[in-house]
Amino acid sequence: KKGEKGEYIEVDEREKLPHSEQKKWEAEQLSSALFSFGAKDSKQQQEYELLLEDEIAFVQALTMDGSKDNEAKKEISETERKKMDIEETKRSLPVFPFRDDLIRAIQDHQVLIIEGETGSGKTTQVPQYLYEAGFTKDGKKIGCTQPRRVAAMSVAARVAEEMKVKLGNEVGYSIRFEDCTSERTVLKYMTDGTLHREFLSEPDLASYSVMIIDEAHERTLHTDILFGLVKDISRFRKDLKLLISSATLDAEKFSSFFDDAPIFRIPGRRYPVDLYYTKAPEADYIDACVVSILQIHVTQPLGDVLVFLTGQEEIETCHEILTDRVKRLGSKIKELLILPIYANLPSDMQAKIFEPTPPNARKVILATNIAETSLTIDNIIYVIDPGFAKQNNFNSRTGMETLMVVPISKASANQRAGRAGRVAPGKCFRLYTAWAYQHELEENTVPEIQRINLGNAVLMLKALGINDLLHFDFLDPPPTETLVLALEQLYALGALNHHGELTKMGRRMAEFPVDPMMAKMLLASEKYKCSEEIVSIAAMLSVNGAIFYRPKDKIIHADTARKNFNQNHGDHLSLLNVYNQWAESDYSTQWCYENFIQYRSMKRARDVREQLVNLMQRVEIDIVSGVTESINIRKAITSGYFYHIAKFSKGGHYKTVKHNQTVMIHPNSALFEDLPRWVLYHELVFTTKEFMRQVIEIESKWLLEVAPHYYKAKELEDSTNKKMPKVVGRSGPSDA
Ligand code: CDP
Ligand code: MG
Repeated sequence: KKGEKGEYIEVDEREKLPHSEQKKWEAEQLSSALFSFGAKDSKQQQEYELLLEDEIAFVQALTMDGSKDNEAKKEISETERKKMDIEETKRSLPVFPFRDDLIRAIQDHQVLIIEGETGSGKTTQVPQYLYEAGFTKDGKKIGCTQPRRVAAMSVAARVAEEMKVKLGNEVGYSIRFEDCTSERTVLKYMTDGTLHREFLSEPDLASYSVMIIDEAHERTLHTDILFGLVKDISRFRKDLKLLISSATLDAEKFSSFFDDAPIFRIPGRRYPVDLYYTKAPEADYIDACVVSILQIHVTQPLGDVLVFLTGQEEIETCHEILTDRVKRLGSKIKELLILPIYANLPSDMQAKIFEPTPPNARKVILATNIAETSLTIDNIIYVIDPGFAKQNNFNSRTGMETLMVVPISKASANQRAGRAGRVAPGKCFRLYTAWAYQHELEENTVPEIQRINLGNAVLMLKALGINDLLHFDFLDPPPTETLVLALEQLYALGALNHHGELTKMGRRMAEFPVDPMMAKMLLASEKYKCSEEIVSIAAMLSVNGAIFYRPKDKIIHADTARKNFNQNHGDHLSLLNVYNQWAESDYSTQWCYENFIQYRSMKRARDVREQLVNLMQRVEIDIVSGVTESINIRKAITSGYFYHIAKFSKGGHYKTVKHNQTVMIHPNSALFEDLPRWVLYHELVFTTKEFMRQVIEIESKWLLEVAPHYYKAKELEDSTNKKMPKVVGRSGPSDA
């Protein structure tokens, strides 16, 4: 008997069917059992299972000769929209009908809260409206802050295009280590950190007529501090218009903080998004992502896919695996364009994600959190959300700050899902269970100010003359112990005196747009006569993208190349070695290629270095190099990073000196096999364990030299001249 659709057939019976019938039956089973994708089930919680690769190929083979589904639904994504010219696009945005109302509201009120869904046109349109309405006539600028660098750059580029001007002229952006503005600039996009820093040179923001604190809901540390600063200014600069703009939520909270400022709501335009959860937790979410992407690609109508990953490394891995699988599937599948987007991606590559998808192809964008609200990418119909993000977490008890991958909040998950429903009904595939969503995710993400090290913020506020930090007007105050710890750290670094006032050293440190430890390291290079080397090291550390390139098919070559750069005393010196050799090659691309070094990262390091050299000159430090031995360099580093010291304990483990936390040297480190007795680390990264990344060997007696307020000789007693320890815990707290 032939198997009717959905009818159950015994296996042995089925085997009697002709081969083609068997295949058809299997396919029907597959698509009805495993794909609830297309189900018109309105249940909010649907579950799905991931297919194996050969199943994917199989389903594709079927859909190719069978259903014409894909063709029929092509219109959804393959719209004439992309042919729309800029004017039309502008007019189609949700904010457009409210242009005049909005301008009137801004004229009538000094402070206005603007709330609207991501993609309504807040960031790109509102500044243009204000410009057209004459808010820049008196020679003043309109400023707009963004929590993320990429957003500041890409939005400025878009607005310049819309206004048909060259980026950097009337429309520009300013981010750390990069200023793309000119005298002509009237619309200035910048990171919140950059505006925070501008307060140092222009405390009343005199050159601005309007300041927009955008993406306020992101609640980054800088944005939170800006709230307090701009609120203060608005009291004595009555001519300054202040707009606080946010995706959703929080509007009432912002309003009450700004003395009950009115809220202007841009009505959202949103299509329904079907949510799908996995039936069981996914052990490897990168792999689950790859499979989901392929599954969508072969079974779903055209429309682009947005995938949320946690960072550059993960994106690169996913990109590589996906490219490989796509290659293997060959002509069995339609064209799939894979585009990454993350903070360190060069801007020409970033721009690619906004280019229209070619006909009959599908775009898949591998993005960090940046695509959650800061960037609007059109045409997304499918979202894949593994449910994680990278977060900086600070433990005020131990003073340790760790970068780690954490589960996102429900609010984030909903924002992510929302990205699928902007242009048409969409689908969001959550790579976690419905149960996990309900029971394991927090409601909201904790604002940064309550979970990160405040050293930098406190130094900036002190430099602005704000001394009483406990009474600063915070939207949500940071924990007192975090504030106190920041003050203590700045004191130990010599930036504050014992009255908590900024010292000359502190004032110089505040000149540098880097964290206080790095600023101190830069300044200390003067004393140790190695400023040339230290600026290079600082630049290399600041490029937190990958320096070393490790393609899958050349891992051995790449690792050997990397090892060749290693220096005895540790990673900072290896980085310096890379930089110096590259400089000797006359900054050659070819050299990078041959040595498995990422050219783009190096280019950025060179730019950062140039900026740092200028800043060094501003604080009157000459760039000199005199050292042949690395001791001075390492001492200068220790002058800044003496908090980050760990001592060898046992079994390859280290303990941090002050808090006795167990940490390990990262396997990528040049010191991974040496295990020196005392080490300094640049940062901690938590993966399976707490790993120290970028490590150098130091001598404990240097700590007394560079941080006498912080270290007591007793803590460092059994030190350098002895060999590896047999007994642990004599001088430090015990393991118990
Ligand atoms: O700020 P908001 O989320 O409200 O929206 P927006 O960033 O102003 O984006 C409005 C529209 O501008 C998007 O739908 C895109 O069509 C377009 N846009 C773009 O094409 N390229 C960019 N880099 C940014 C926005
Ligand atoms: Mg925006």
